[in-house]
Amino acid sequence: MSTTQVATAEKRRILVTSALPYANGSIHLGHLLEHIQTDIWTRFQRMRGHECYSVCADDAHGTPVMLKAQELGITPEQMVAKTREEHHQDLLDFHVDYNNYYVTHSEENKTLCELVYNNLNDAGYISKRVISQLYDPEKEMFLPDRFIKGDCPSCGAENQNGDNCDVCSATYSPTEVKNPRSVVSGATPVLRDSEHYFFDLPKFEDMLKSWIRSGAIQNEMANKLEEWFEQGLQQWDISRDAPYFGFEIPNAPGKFFYVWVDAPVGYMASFKHFCDANGIDDAPFWAKDTDTELYHFIGKDITYFHCLFWPAMLEGAGFRKPTGVNIHGFVTVNGAKMSKSSGTFIKARTYLEHLNPEYLRYYFASKLNDSVTDIDLNFEDFVQKVNSDLVGKVVNIASRCAGFITKRFDGKLSDNIENPELLATFQKASEGIAQHIEARHYHKAVRDIMALADQANQYIDAQAPWVTIKDEAKQAFTHDVCSLGIHLFRILMVYLTPVMPKLSEQAQAFLNDSFNWDSAQEVKLGHSINKFKALLQRVEMDKVNAIIEDSKESLAPATKPAKEAKKKASTPALETQSGTPLEQDPIAETISFEDFAKVDLRVARIAKAEHVEKADKLLRLELDLGGETKQVFAGIKSAYQPEELEGKLTVMVANLAPRKMRFGMSEGMVLAAGPGGSDLFILEPHDGAQPGMKVK
Ligand code: MSP
Ligand code: ZN
Repeated sequence: MSTTQVATAEKRRILVTSALPYANGSIHLGHLLEHIQTDIWTRFQRMRGHECYSVCADDAHGTPVMLKAQELGITPEQMVAKTREEHHQDLLDFHVDYNNYYVTHSEENKTLCELVYNNLNDAGYISKRVISQLYDPEKEMFLPDRFIKGDCPSCGAENQNGDNCDVCSATYSPTEVKNPRSVVSGATPVLRDSEHYFFDLPKFEDMLKSWIRSGAIQNEMANKLEEWFEQGLQQWDISRDAPYFGFEIPNAPGKFFYVWVDAPVGYMASFKHFCDANGIDDAPFWAKDTDTELYHFIGKDITYFHCLFWPAMLEGAGFRKPTGVNIHGFVTVNGAKMSKSSGTFIKARTYLEHLNPEYLRYYFASKLNDSVTDIDLNFEDFVQKVNSDLVGKVVNIASRCAGFITKRFDGKLSDNIENPELLATFQKASEGIAQHIEARHYHKAVRDIMALADQANQYIDAQAPWVTIKDEAKQAFTHDVCSLGIHLFRILMVYLTPVMPKLSEQAQAFLNDSFNWDSAQEVKLGHSINKFKALLQRVEMDKVNAIIEDSKESLAPATKPAKEAKKKASTPALETQSGTPLEQDPIAETISFEDFAKVDLRVARIAKAEHVEKADKLLRLELDLGGETKQVFAGIKSAYQPEELEGKLTVMVANLAPRKMRFGMSEGMVLAAGPGGSDLFILEPHDGAQPGMKVK
């Protein structure tokens, strides 16, 4: 932690968390927005000299994790351990610096969940009641809503979710779904009784109503919560029946805590694990009437859990409530929801393979504010901002001045300030920028910093040290101008440290310095600096394009894909379909003959078929058209071995625009039918057809 500059009386004790990513998927841009937002705030508090801790963890429990592990043929513990490791590394590589990145499947968490539960139970907030739920008789498990599909009870649309309809937006109970089926086994679910444990949320209504207006959350979200109050708070079902990957409820064999009970307690557990290892007492951070502060950074989709259930659980169990829940919007890419098929569902790792993580930190910071509006990552804007702001403005100041200092003035800054007003402007900006960061108006902080950078560049332009350096009589002046340029650059880098910690480290090495927030007020007269090395490179658009290409999961399958599984749903491989193919995928709109004739279908001989290294869905095919060979990457690995295909005839789309994929060019598409997975059937013409023949 950085040096302490604030007097003990003003020194705040703060604990910060980000939402715990689920352990069954990779860290992606959406997660990164949150972790970067949290990390900037945390680093800022530490630079200000406050005692600020930040923790996170993987959210290990629940049905999706359990089923995914089964599918992979490993234990959930193994899967979670591996995912936690990957998640943590992704975050570290984005310079996200938690004091602890733990996992909810831990001893500490089990103990704390039991404590919270026992306290709630002793205080009379837990009750039991038998409920009737859909049960998968084949898989022998109760089905969470999202593992049920069927026809919408409202409009009749087929293949809808267990609790809401994408066609008419109706919400309903899974027991109302028509022709329900289990996504896990395909079986028809049956109703079955089971005793469940409930938490008495309605008892906390008054407390919650005043808490959401205490400044703990944004007003726009408080308004949203009012709507939920109007609909009436319900008893919250906190138990799940075995088989379930989670913690068993004390004195309730076969009953487990619902994952959303142990997940937020995981914040406490992660912090405890850190405190225990470092001799810190975590009790004051959870005690009622504490003067420590607690902030949760979350996305808007999990507001209900963090602004109703969690404060109520804390209150009911005798703990403090959060000082603030900081809610952000969703990341969109180029104006649209992140999507796998268009390559905008970008994983942290894919980004890191091509670009400097600090560009993204800067870009997000330049857009982040304290509202829940979505944040758009527009790649053209991204490239332009990084190049013009960071390379063109900030780093440029140093690169214009440093060379002269090193070569002509012995690497030493002058003893004089050439323009005291300008320096004072830079120093006085400190409090305003600090307030913006404190209030999570990062975009305003960045705007102010860039306005200063403009002033610094204008100053250097006006003084033109590259001209005055040639004038013997103006050596001292040139020295002063370049030195001031370096002082100003240094102040900008102090302010940018929370956003770009790595760049700041390099700058500190160059400046022979070490920063805390108040460093902006010091002036290093006569200070020796080191030789300047290029700090940042420009972003090129082809790097961005490479990220997008690498994020495209596979060629669009020949048949229309089954609707993408909803957030947090099972992996698509688990999806099984019921109903006839025509029911699942009705005939498309009528097209004209001309439309059809545009598609050039040809008989092709599969001359070669082979696996593609690192591609889990693709086979590489060489298709002989009798005079011309085309390469196609086809998403059929789940259904075919390469040897089965070689020598066979099939039908391909021969005039499809070629597409650059991570593994090479794909110059067409082979035709196949079926829902996917092992149910994929490549078309084969009758005997006698020859490669190159047109299909019409
Ligand atoms: N495991 C729960 C959180 C438990 S916290 C006690 C969860 N996990 S998640 O992996 O789905 O999401 C983790 C965080 O990432 C959430 O705050 C969520 O809002 C955020 N985001 C996930 N996708 C996002 C975007 N596309 N954009 C911005 N944030 C999003 O929910
Ligand atoms: Zn409907």
